[in-house]
Amino acid sequence: MSVKQRPELTAQANRSNGRHGWLRLTPAYSVTAVEMILARYPSSTHILDPFAGTGTTGVVARQLGKAADMTDINPFLVWLARAKCATYTPTELAATRACADLIAEATEHMNPSADHWLPPIHNITRWWNLPTLHRLAQLFQAIQLYANEPSPMRDILLIAFCRVALHSSNAAFNHQSLSFKAPSAQQRLFTVDNVLIEHWRQEVDTLLVTAQTPIVGTGRIWQDDARQLTAASSNYDLVLTSPPYVNRMSYIRELRPYMYWLGYLTHGRAAGDLDWQAIGGTWGCATSKLATWVPASDCYTPALLIPLLESIKQSSPLLSSYVQRYFSDMYEHLKTIARLVRSGGHLAYIIGNSKFYTTLILRNRSSQG
Ligand SMILES: C[S@@+](CC[C@H](N)C(=O)[O-])C[C@H]1O[C@@H](n2cnc3c(N)ncnc32)[C@H](O)[C@@H]1O
Repeated sequence: MSVKQRPELTAQANRSNGRHGWLRLTPAYSVTAVEMILARYPSSTHILDPFAGTGTTGVVARQLGKAADMTDINPFLVWLARAKCATYTPTELAATRACADLIAEATEHMNPSADHWLPPIHNITRWWNLPTLHRLAQLFQAIQLYANEPSPMRDILLIAFCRVALHSSNAAFNHQSLSFKAPSAQQRLFTVDNVLIEHWRQEVDTLLVTAQTPIVGTGRIWQDDARQLTAASSNYDLVLTSPPYVNRMSYIRELRPYMYWLGYLTHGRAAGDLDWQAIGGTWGCATSKLATWVPASDCYTPALLIPLLESIKQSSPLLSSYVQRYFSDMYEHLKTIARLVRSGGHLAYIIGNSKFYTTLILRNRSSQG
């Protein structure tokens, strides 16, 4: 299935689609793509997404009443997928509304010049100008004060916070991934008194409306490494997923503002370490670790890949190692998956293409078997 010129098959189309639009992840796939594949296998009721990301597969499958298990290596994404798949009672939603109002009022009355905790993001003023940053910090402090315990209410409030943090930032998503706006285009609006707080109220309202939609299906969501899954079942009838591509995309890079604010990252080294564990990651220290990476003696390198690795190596030995490690990791993953799918089950992997210098690694297509 070619995804070229099909915007309905990209994450772009998810943004105004209920729970799917709660937080963006550029490499997320679209609700339409998941619906099309599920329609192709209507008798599949026990589904696994081992690279769940923002939980698109699970939300769609569970909305159709299917059982869908999901894993991801990134703890922030596991938290997000759980929140997106949760059922919220009318009482919980009303309590969340009331708490959001308390938080807004408390923030409005905070002393603007008082010191507040700021997340240890490198070069943080590239993300937010100082007045916006301090207002955000006050809002975050008020959430910690009024909704400190883990609860469905806190989850929604934190997702609303992340949305405000992103909208008030200088981040731009004009390309495949994140960049920063030019100084002339940077956010000024949120420095006007209480615009940020008003925006927060609106974001909570939007989330509360979409959180009302019922989720009827079931399933587990847990943090795990897709190369060695500790799965709950060995009887899945469909694996539907989009693994990392061999394209040097770092999920941590795009997610790091949320991950620092919410405490999933506490220093830059941790970001690189997590990206090194992720398949295909090259952020921070993951690149230097790659420079000394040596394939294990039993590392699987398909014959088809060897001339491609040689060709890339002529321009960059580092990138050749990157590609080799990616396929070795995916091989480990597929060995694990083979143990978890029932006989006659199906695999649907959505993958992207990639070019290193003049060497084309993959074409866009979905595979099944
Ligand atoms: C292309 S994204 C999945 C996007 C998802 N389909 C969605 O709609 O949001 C790939 C995901 O694989 C995860 N990942 C990378 N390496 C992993 C590993 N070793 N085990 C489990 N998940 C991993 C990343 O954290 C990322 O969320």
